[in-house]
Amino acid sequence: MTTSYKLKILAGDGIGSEIVGEAHKVIDWINSATDLRIETSEGLLGGCSTDAHGVPLTDETLNDCNNSDAILMGAVGGPKWDGKVAYDVRPEAGLLKLRKSLDLYANLRPTKVIDALIDSSSLKPEIVKELDIMIVRELTGGLYFGTPRGIEDLKNGEQRGFNTCSYTTSEIERVARVAFELAGKRNGKVTSCDKANVLETSKLWRQVVIDLHEREYSDIELDHIYVDNCAMQLVRDPRQFDVIVTDNLFGDILSDESAMLTGSLGMLPSASMGNEGTPYLYEPIHGSAPDIAGKNIANPLATLLSLALCLRYSFNRNDLGQKLEDAISTVLDDGLRTSDIMGTAKNCKQVSTSEMGDAVIVKLGAM
Ligand code: IPM
Ligand code: MG
Repeated sequence: MTTSYKLKILAGDGIGSEIVGEAHKVIDWINSATDLRIETSEGLLGGCSTDAHGVPLTDETLNDCNNSDAILMGAVGGPKWDGKVAYDVRPEAGLLKLRKSLDLYANLRPTKVIDALIDSSSLKPEIVKELDIMIVRELTGGLYFGTPRGIEDLKNGEQRGFNTCSYTTSEIERVARVAFELAGKRNGKVTSCDKANVLETSKLWRQVVIDLHEREYSDIELDHIYVDNCAMQLVRDPRQFDVIVTDNLFGDILSDESAMLTGSLGMLPSASMGNEGTPYLYEPIHGSAPDIAGKNIANPLATLLSLALCLRYSFNRNDLGQKLEDAISTVLDDGLRTSDIMGTAKNCKQVSTSEMGDAVIVKLGAM
């Protein structure tokens, strides 16, 4: 039986349209070769939307997203807008509005070391071999969204910038629940990362995680770590972790760090989830890389891996998600590399964005 889903595609800025272009090829392949139908429509998010409409996300696009089954995003931002447009219409504000409006509170950032790429990691192969961790980042609270916030003028001619970090019990509990559930399907271990020796929000975070664990998830192993130590442990011995659950800001920082363990920011996908029935958002964790935009050299694999997560979590097609992930691994095994993952590997061939996408399609067809 053919099942059909609506996917809203927001390519964004910089390399966004190039990497999303490769996702389009995979979607075309799925539509022609499988019993899944993915109906796509495009929309503007980020600087491109600010240029066209004066805001980084229009109500109309947000409404379209709400009426889709899932959203695939490229990347937003760039020097064209940095510091040059009002703060509330900067490209990043559009992405934050999208996450907040859809209440996508749990951001899953899987860090998996693909064997063929082990030499691209800046860490020794024996430290990262077979690494497979999942960062669950709280995405709609904390310092990113707390009020009051702003920059005010002081009487002495100075200015003062301020933000508020706040978390409620239920905001912490719902994301911790996602982490425990995931750990149950993985290696059964959650590490909750906070700064409870300094911050009240972290103190509450830790208590809520402990209470939920005691009440409902005592079969899962739980430990707690301060964020500074976590940053250190991630490069010292990352394989000690299974699922790491942490707040919005810490998760932003730690996920860039953990992405590099795999060799490149260009390899890491993410899925942002909310309550059942809400469309989930899939996006690579890297930025819009304006310095290489338009050159057909960006790595499209984080976007394709994000599409694989979408197939699994939003379209209930683990089989196709797996197939796409396998096709990507095979292409890498064959030695094809975009420039970011070239590293010092021998017998590898450097390819462009579109050549990488084409190679994935060939593998999909042959599987
Ligand atoms: C990310 C990005 C975003 C964030 C930016 C673009 C607002 O760095 O998804 O990690 O800080 O959440
Ligand atoms: Mg980030």
